[in-house]
Amino acid sequence: MVESCIVKISRSIILCLGLLLAACLPARLAKPGAATPGVAPATPASTSAIQETPTAASTPGANLPPARTNFPSCEPAAGLLPFKIASAQAIEKPTDAPSMRLLAKQHDLFIGTATDPGYLQNDSAASQLLAREFNMLVPEVAMKWEIIHPEPERYDFSRGDALVTFARQHGMAVRGHVLVWDLQMPAWVTNGQFTRQEWMQILCTHIKSVVSHYRGQIYAWDVVNEAVNQDGTLRNTFWMNKLGPEHIAMAFQWAREADPNAKLFYNDNGGEGLNPKSQGIYALVQGLQQTGVPIDGVGMQMHTSLGGAPPAIELSANMQRLAELGLEIHITEMDVRLQYSTSDNETKLAQQADIYQQVLSVCLSVHNCKAFLTWGLTDRYSWIPGFTGKPDAPLLYDKDGVPKPAYFAIVKLLANQ
Ligand code: XIL
Repeated sequence: MVESCIVKISRSIILCLGLLLAACLPARLAKPGAATPGVAPATPASTSAIQETPTAASTPGANLPPARTNFPSCEPAAGLLPFKIASAQAIEKPTDAPSMRLLAKQHDLFIGTATDPGYLQNDSAASQLLAREFNMLVPEVAMKWEIIHPEPERYDFSRGDALVTFARQHGMAVRGHVLVWDLQMPAWVTNGQFTRQEWMQILCTHIKSVVSHYRGQIYAWDVVNEAVNQDGTLRNTFWMNKLGPEHIAMAFQWAREADPNAKLFYNDNGGEGLNPKSQGIYALVQGLQQTGVPIDGVGMQMHTSLGGAPPAIELSANMQRLAELGLEIHITEMDVRLQYSTSDNETKLAQQADIYQQVLSVCLSVHNCKAFLTWGLTDRYSWIPGFTGKPDAPLLYDKDGVPKPAYFAIVKLLANQ
């Protein structure tokens, strides 16, 4: 086995990632559910009736080879209740007013954005805009580890539940974000001193607990986020450090066990066009797929800027090759920064509109591109000024929720005008 790995490493480092992920390592690990010597559960096993085995019929991507991953598994943390909408909260009918979401319907497209319950509670105009214009939402931070699992034995689903409830009330789908990432992690994890097997138990329990809580409520999960370097190799992330490259296959296996109906995505930024990173992502997901890891899609974050967007022809070719693998593609976090341009404001907004329109146009032309999401509802809520330290206006609506040229460009395209 080791020898065959070495031979394959010499052919391609990236191909070997797939081998390490799914061919070499699982073989020496125990079967799911089997007692693993030395793996002490971080929390006692839950008594909740979680069905662990996905059925072929209910599994997205059931046409893919059956999963051959067999990492030791775990139960969700004890005492957690599955998410339920209170019965008094009737589900509203989606509005029929003209909107992006209505236009998107005819393209079989989810149009979405990232949000936070804080924005919705304090800004009723923003929450009305969200419900009227979008048919998908993604929690900007509410489901990240530091929020949802701040202490070893404590989960806080309140913010995630508020968003899923809002989505249900307004007929919106939800993307789950994010299970495996090395940012926005709580100190108990980042400062933790554990053995490899304990780290596996910690990651497994986290994934099983969070995904089980929202079982049946999430259209797609970002299972692994930002694991690839610019040069296409795997990044030396927190989880890479603790568990090696096979943490990726583990995460997908555990997520699939916890919710067989959620589509499972690899999500990243900077691999949208054709470049070493997108090559690496392609090789990674192809390797996962070929070795039976349950992956259903690739998320392209698309944090871009005027002059920085991938050429449409490259984006199209990249999406197309992923679609040919049978994978679904989502534009997951689009925003277009204006701050590096010296043009006048009107020109900048027009160029921004062109970029949004171009990306959506490519998405509409690739049959497996099913969702188009921006990272924030209005410029007031964009993360970019905080991230870059400079003011910016990267989204579809200005600070007051007034639609910008980018919004009208999207509407025009969706209306086939
Ligand atoms: C960002 C949020 O928008 C910020 O509010 C937070 O402080 C940091 O994370 N890629 C991702 C997102 O996958 O989770 C990031 O979100 C933006 C980059």
